[in-house]
Amino acid sequence: MTEKRATAQAHPNIALIKYWGNRDDYWRIPANDSLSFNLEGLWSRTTVIFRPQLSQDRLWLHGREISGTGLTRAQRVLDRVRRWAGLKWYAEVHSENNFPTGTGIASSASGFAALAVAAAAAAGLVLSEADLSRLARLGSGSAARSVPGGFVLWRAGQHDEDSFAYTFAAADHWALADCIAVVSTQPKAVGSSHGHTLAATSPLQAARVADAPRRLALVQDAILRRDFDQLAWIVEQDAHLMHAVMQTSQPPLLYWQSASIEVMHAVRAWRAAGRAVAYTLDAGPNVHVLCPASLAPTVAADLAQLPGVAEVRVATVGGPARVLDTSGTSA
Ligand code: DP6
Repeated sequence: MTEKRATAQAHPNIALIKYWGNRDDYWRIPANDSLSFNLEGLWSRTTVIFRPQLSQDRLWLHGREISGTGLTRAQRVLDRVRRWAGLKWYAEVHSENNFPTGTGIASSASGFAALAVAAAAAAGLVLSEADLSRLARLGSGSAARSVPGGFVLWRAGQHDEDSFAYTFAAADHWALADCIAVVSTQPKAVGSSHGHTLAATSPLQAARVADAPRRLALVQDAILRRDFDQLAWIVEQDAHLMHAVMQTSQPPLLYWQSASIEVMHAVRAWRAAGRAVAYTLDAGPNVHVLCPASLAPTVAADLAQLPGVAEVRVATVGGPARVLDTSGTSA
């Protein structure tokens, strides 16, 4: 056998109840359950090729070879696949995104979900969705949520075995959209992995985590009943709680730019005027504006007029990570 190869695709996701802070950083066991939906139309595609003649794992993103933490994180996923498959070969990994890096859309979620699914398929493993989600989590916590499709819940669990995400409502359950107002394409100064390690230094983190089950239950209920009003205020509250923790950690992290605040004010004014819109922000300045998909064209057009908004990208609710191709496997 000369090589074992597979390609997989996964969507990034937007969290409505945020993951911020780990109970265990090494295993990425989060401090609280989180909830998200996948972003249709945006994807990462990753090809994994295990070859007997390689002397180490190698990783390319858009044709540029990556070393350091990016490679180490990919190796966590590859090592487990090798162990589960009883395989000794190293791998070449080629990954690409159809959304430009630097637009503030987290590529680690879709990238590591696609890597987990491609690596397992290339090694000939047939894994449950839960095990694929656990595998993706080793590379990036939010990647656990990009493995299942639609509206997804990641139960924090206590250990590696019970910390994985699952679909609680299918992608077509509710036609929502995420209009991403891009206000900065600068790479962020402090990445999420480092940010998670600072969360516990904020006196607000314990309160945020303690109240997370209440918020999550309200958001899940709002989605199941398609109640945008309930969704709106609790999603915004959850984002503000996470940013309050970030802003009060040691050292503090202030991800917002002036334009982010302009967008938040505009969204609140639009909602007060009767429009079904709400916002959330991840570890960066770009603002994700949620609305019913039918309103997305006008919301996106109005966002594009706001000062400091460079670009708006629109995504609807997407499906699961999936294998695209294993045809290169040769014997
Ligand atoms: C603010 O999953 O990017 O987007 O596990 O270190 O890769 P690592 O962190 P990551 O953290 C995501 C943080 C967030 C909130 C969220 O997506 O829930």
